[in-house]
Amino acid sequence: MATGNYLITGGASLIGSHIADQLLADGAREVRLLDNYSLGTPAMIAHLSDEPRVKRIRGDVTRLPDLLEATADVDGVFALAGYLTLPMAQDPLAGISVNTLGMVNTLEACRFSGVRRIVFSSSVAVYGTPAQHPVTEDSGYFSAGLQPPSLLYGASKLMGEALCARYARSYGLQFNNLRFASVYGERQHTRAVNAVFVAKICDQVRRGEAPVIEGDGSEVHDYVYVTDVARACVSSMHSAAHGHALNVATGVDSTATEVAQTALRICGRRDLKPQYREDRRAVRSAAGTRLGFSREKAQREIGWVPQISLEEGMRRLIEWQSAQG
Ligand SMILES: NC(=O)c1ccc[n+]([C@@H]2O[C@H](COP(=O)([O-])OP(=O)(O)OC[C@H]3O[C@@H](n4cnc5c(N)ncnc54)[C@H](O)[C@@H]3O)[C@@H](O)[C@H]2O)c1
Repeated sequence: MATGNYLITGGASLIGSHIADQLLADGAREVRLLDNYSLGTPAMIAHLSDEPRVKRIRGDVTRLPDLLEATADVDGVFALAGYLTLPMAQDPLAGISVNTLGMVNTLEACRFSGVRRIVFSSSVAVYGTPAQHPVTEDSGYFSAGLQPPSLLYGASKLMGEALCARYARSYGLQFNNLRFASVYGERQHTRAVNAVFVAKICDQVRRGEAPVIEGDGSEVHDYVYVTDVARACVSSMHSAAHGHALNVATGVDSTATEVAQTALRICGRRDLKPQYREDRRAVRSAAGTRLGFSREKAQREIGWVPQISLEEGMRRLIEWQSAQG
């Protein structure tokens, strides 16, 4: 049960909006959603507008005073405010600032307000291009060959993780660094490179167009459904375990061609065939034909196991897209 007061920075985010849903369903007393709406929009949390336990705060994590006020009487903070790879490519200065200075401020506000625990939204980008498989939490950061936005993004998440560890050591703040794989689902946005691909393929196929794939279709990613990710965050807030980095991934590598075939199956469009093309200008995250993220530690430490298969998740995403028109 989540009976306390919680702050979600970047509260109008894809993942933050789903964490809010789960906290409220679990009985939270108050859920504060702090966002400056630089990337997210109020529409992401419009479904919560009649919920009296939700408090919307227009605030900026790069401004410490905004966080000092927002963390007063808070039991736990979900640090979600961040710039993903695509916004990082568009505005590196803002991205680095939000992902690093924003975390320093968030941790400083937690210390000042006596917050007990923080859950930090890290990423499997901290592995760069994984050099060994399976990818456990002990694997290192291999940056060779990464495009600059991906390199900056992974490095900024490593800094966020190190800052959490530093505040734990110096001030006793409890933390877990959750390393999300490619998160997709209802309320999908267009800021995460790999999830954009899933959303685009679903949209093309439901409209009756052939799915378009960059490359030869063999590139793999680990697609994890947003409600599973939100559940990992809430479990990690309430678990006895803390001080960990945990992969929040399905452990299943899906090729681009498999994603397209899944969309074709869901929409009953076996008449359409994937189209392959090259776009050398596209912003890319680490790319390869094998990942193999281990999720054993998350299962062991916080009892988290993903529940939504790629097929079920894409079915839900297509339903949501169709409802948007
Ligand atoms: N979506 C993914 O696939 C994925 C994968 C790995 C890690 N993550 C991490 O999880 C977190 C949430 O991801 P998401 O996809 O839900 O993100 P998102 O892009 O939907 O939301 C990020 C939110 O942060 C807000 N924000 C940006 N700068 C801010 C500032 N200065 N002050 C306050 N708010 C600010 C934005 O307005 C936005 O609402 C991010 O930190 C991201 O790096 C996401």
